[in-house]
Amino acid sequence: MAGTIKQQRLEHWLRPEIRALSAYHVTDATGMVKLDAMENPYGWPQDLIDQWLEVLAAAELNRYPDPEARPLVAALRAVHGIPAQSGVLLGNGSDELIQMIMLAVAGPGRVVMAPEPGFSMYQMIASFVGLGYVGVPLAAPDFSLDLTAMLTAIEQHQPAVIFLAYPNNPTGNLFDIESMERIIAAAPGLVVVDEAYHAFADATLMGRLPDYDNLLVLRTLSKMGLAGLRLGLLAADHGWVDEINKIRLPYNINSLTQLSAIFAMQHAALLSAQTDRISRDRDELYGRLQLIPGLDVYPSRANFILFRAPQGSASALFERLKQEGVLIRNLHKEGTALADCLRVTVGTAAENNAFMAALQQAL
Ligand SMILES: Cc1ncc(COP(=O)(O)O)c(C=O)c1O
Repeated sequence: MAGTIKQQRLEHWLRPEIRALSAYHVTDATGMVKLDAMENPYGWPQDLIDQWLEVLAAAELNRYPDPEARPLVAALRAVHGIPAQSGVLLGNGSDELIQMIMLAVAGPGRVVMAPEPGFSMYQMIASFVGLGYVGVPLAAPDFSLDLTAMLTAIEQHQPAVIFLAYPNNPTGNLFDIESMERIIAAAPGLVVVDEAYHAFADATLMGRLPDYDNLLVLRTLSKMGLAGLRLGLLAADHGWVDEINKIRLPYNINSLTQLSAIFAMQHAALLSAQTDRISRDRDELYGRLQLIPGLDVYPSRANFILFRAPQGSASALFERLKQEGVLIRNLHKEGTALADCLRVTVGTAAENNAFMAALQQAL
């Protein structure tokens, strides 16, 4: 009886769109070669860890963090080449910034738009905040932007925000820059260029911020090698940043993250050396995957590679790899653009070898 009342209460009070969602799922990777989450596989040398711990020892955990995180913002401005005239906002991961942007524009009848396949959180967060979501299919066979389809959808739906991941997740490609500029010019509202994978791409719109008052550039430290810190940044015209900042919960960047990220930015050369290494290893892994008959491998400018397995085999292949101790990401969904697709994150040379060995065995 009590169970039924509880159920009725849930059904009465929870928004239907929240009940329809599934929580973001992360597979347990204990003891596995972990190539599922686009993490940097490299840690820091011991002497750097010792220096970092000294910095952390000075943290005053009894006090609230610096609310504006000014020293951190200054360090990020320098390392990320943020134009002096642009504003900067920090988030607990770039996910939080995506949520803040959407909260700032949410309202009845409003929609956000993104090319598909794309980063799943754009649609999820739209649901959280009560925004509609319009996905515009990328063009076959290379997942390039379908400019005509995008411009038509913009005209039809008048989106409050358009998200363009550059490079795109999960496809790994960089969209054509002229098409992106056409979209920014045609957008009635904001365009967020999400550069989560910029460290591997050698391409950015950061320098173009002063040219567009509706352009926002999003970055994260997660893929550079600091996923555990949860720190993302948004750079844009002060007009937008100052307004979106009102939605930020006080002290959203904790003291340990602030100190650690300042320290990491002082050692940005080490992180760049790691991400450069990952980019080279990605190109090598791409070449090796291409040699496997039956796989369709998509060129990548990120730290992961999307590939299509022979028809109907992706889920079995994913499970076989898992049994062999290698965890990648199964993106297969029948009847979609990602049918038979798997995504592997570039790891260390040893991890990439383990993946290739397991894959060849499984095939
Ligand atoms: C395109 C894109 N944007 C943003 C994120 C979120 O990154 P984080 O919240 O770790 O900063 C991801 C994570 O996979 C991503 O792929």
